[in-house]
Amino acid sequence: MNRKNNIILIGFMGSGKTTFGRWITRTHNMEFLDTDEYIENKYNKLIKDIFRDSGEETFRDMETQAIKELAQVCDNCVISVGGGLPVREVNRSLLKELGIVVYLEASVDELVKRLSKDTSRPLLAGGNLREKIESLMTAREALYKDAADVIVKTDGRRFEDMYADIVSAVNIGIMED
Ligand code: S3P
Repeated sequence: MNRKNNIILIGFMGSGKTTFGRWITRTHNMEFLDTDEYIENKYNKLIKDIFRDSGEETFRDMETQAIKELAQVCDNCVISVGGGLPVREVNRSLLKELGIVVYLEASVDELVKRLSKDTSRPLLAGGNLREKIESLMTAREALYKDAADVIVKTDGRRFEDMYADIVSAVNIGIMED
């Protein structure tokens, strides 16, 4: 397979895809793209308003369309994708065509800490945050792992060390699949 030279960051909401992704692009002269941001700009609407007005399925269709479009333009990019995007099988295949897929793994404890003040994510609104995270994580973890070329642990780690995990995976030849 002739894969593109992009890095795709997947993982649960709050796993650090955007901050780590921006760090990689700053330090390695790459371009940063984020599917949520892409969708919000394209439809000129916040994700939470898309969920409220059109429902989750419409948003998921927008995500699939977004990665098809990004595949046409991304070269040497870091692409952070929404936490639910890898759930669809077609999306997991599209991601593999787009570049090296990196799963940022974070513990539920860490996610609870990072998401406790968040109001932008409709799937976490109301109710018990830890229970919501646990139940979504149970449904998704195997799919994240299935989609991933590399799994990078994030709890308490420095970005330099997380990036080194990606580089060593590339160096041992996973891109030659
Ligand atoms: C979602 C994650 C969000 C955003 C939407 C749904 C999910 O993106 O796409 O709120 O289903 O996990 P982040 O992972 O960037 O927060």
